[in-house]
Amino acid sequence: MRIDTPAGSILCDPWVNPAYFASWFPFPDNSLLDWETLGQVDYLYLSHLHRDHFDAAHLRRFVSKKARVLLPEYPTSELEDQLRELGFTDFIKTVSEEVLELDGGLKVMIQALTSPTDGPIGDSSLWVEYDGVRLLNQNDARPTDLALFESLGHVHAHMLQFSGAIWYPMVYELPQAAKTAFGKQKRDRQFDRTWRYIDDLKASHVFPIAGPPCFLDDELWQFNDIFGDEGNIFPDQSVFMKEYAKVGGTNGVVLLPGSVSEITETSIETTHPTDVDEFFANKVAHLEEMRERKRPIIEAEKASWRHPEIDVLKEMKRRIEPLLEESIYLAKGVGGPVRFDLVGYDGDAVESIVVDFPGKEVRRYADEKVRYRFRTERALIEHLLFIDEVDWVNSLFLSCRFSAARIGQYNEFVYAFFKCLSEERLQYAEGWYDEHERTTDAEDITLGDWVVQRRCPHLKADLTRFGIVDGDQLTCQLHGWRFDLPSGRCLTGVGHQIRARRAGEPAPATDGDTPEAAATPA
Ligand code: FES
Repeated sequence: MRIDTPAGSILCDPWVNPAYFASWFPFPDNSLLDWETLGQVDYLYLSHLHRDHFDAAHLRRFVSKKARVLLPEYPTSELEDQLRELGFTDFIKTVSEEVLELDGGLKVMIQALTSPTDGPIGDSSLWVEYDGVRLLNQNDARPTDLALFESLGHVHAHMLQFSGAIWYPMVYELPQAAKTAFGKQKRDRQFDRTWRYIDDLKASHVFPIAGPPCFLDDELWQFNDIFGDEGNIFPDQSVFMKEYAKVGGTNGVVLLPGSVSEITETSIETTHPTDVDEFFANKVAHLEEMRERKRPIIEAEKASWRHPEIDVLKEMKRRIEPLLEESIYLAKGVGGPVRFDLVGYDGDAVESIVVDFPGKEVRRYADEKVRYRFRTERALIEHLLFIDEVDWVNSLFLSCRFSAARIGQYNEFVYAFFKCLSEERLQYAEGWYDEHERTTDAEDITLGDWVVQRRCPHLKADLTRFGIVDGDQLTCQLHGWRFDLPSGRCLTGVGHQIRARRAGEPAPATDGDTPEAAATPA
């Protein structure tokens, strides 16, 4: 998205090239836009380092290095470092949640989210005001609420994510019926969360953005939402419009690559390069055409992944063991061995490697019970080791080029660890969990027949806004985590016990602990 005002232009997250092992492509295709012109901007805003937002090749080739970078306030300097490597030199280091006045009366504010589960250690939203017109590019950030943005005055344009951007549940080795049921739940939750944010902000116009991607490799083609599968987590903008209408939404605006919306305090005028409804009616044909056109790009990428000279076990040992040694919270959170089954170039399983979190070592699999098992091509791991990738979420996992099985519930610590394969990141995540663990939330609220802690045990959403009680279950709508209230057990992830009692029952003498919930076999 490019924001043009008389006081300057801001280019936001220009993503064009495929991301995550050539799995995700932008849809509709934006590679044919006039990027030479679009890249000549005054400011550049990169919300975070996820590769469907931070497209290094595109930034290097097309975006003016004179652009001033609006930098979110992140705990590590990785975003700035990577932009410097690409040739950007002019950085405006914003302070999270503080309005900054730029030249010509242009105002911006960036809210940086910095928990280990927010993007690759950091995700953010950009608020912009010029001449009384306000815009929030919430992107795919998940703030607990939008109160801060609301407090700065009525927002005219609200851009936010509404579709899926994860590997769940598709990659899990589950019967198809279960996968469909989980997928449907997830799809519904995504929309519920979107309605919640829209309702919070009550902007004049709502723009569904930040996804979904499309999948053009034959191996991943089935992830496109073109088969009428109600369990597909990647509904597109046209589905958004239909669902939004069902909940009474009338102010949605779909943008195609090349669309232009002119927004004033009282009006909006949008022009499109082609008819939007017709475009989505022909989605399959567009995808098929893209698939043929992009095939050489995918093939070329695939050819670069193999590094047979790399001894995967030895390299994983060398890189991961020192981090296991240092890890307290993440290792304890994972709590068991995690197994990688590697498939050779000819499709046969060739190697089973275990990252043993309690034992703090990386070794060959020894026929034991494991908490998580991932099966993927050995070439992908070779490539991650070859490029010294510190974030396997922002590469392997988001690629969806793996399958997974687990015992027990979702374990956020597994993914948090594999996105922290550097000293700097690991230390930050450990510190964050340490602080988080020490902070107990004493305040209780009443929801229906229950008295529960006010802050969600997951990432502290305010349950007066996000909590929905249905019988004995509470769902926090921010990420859809569910809790069994009689036992306090989290039904979605390991740990995260909630404090709850029936209204009218006395409060226990002590509380605030969050003992690990017992894992139940999936
Ligand atoms: S904060 Fe994530 S589910 Fe509540």
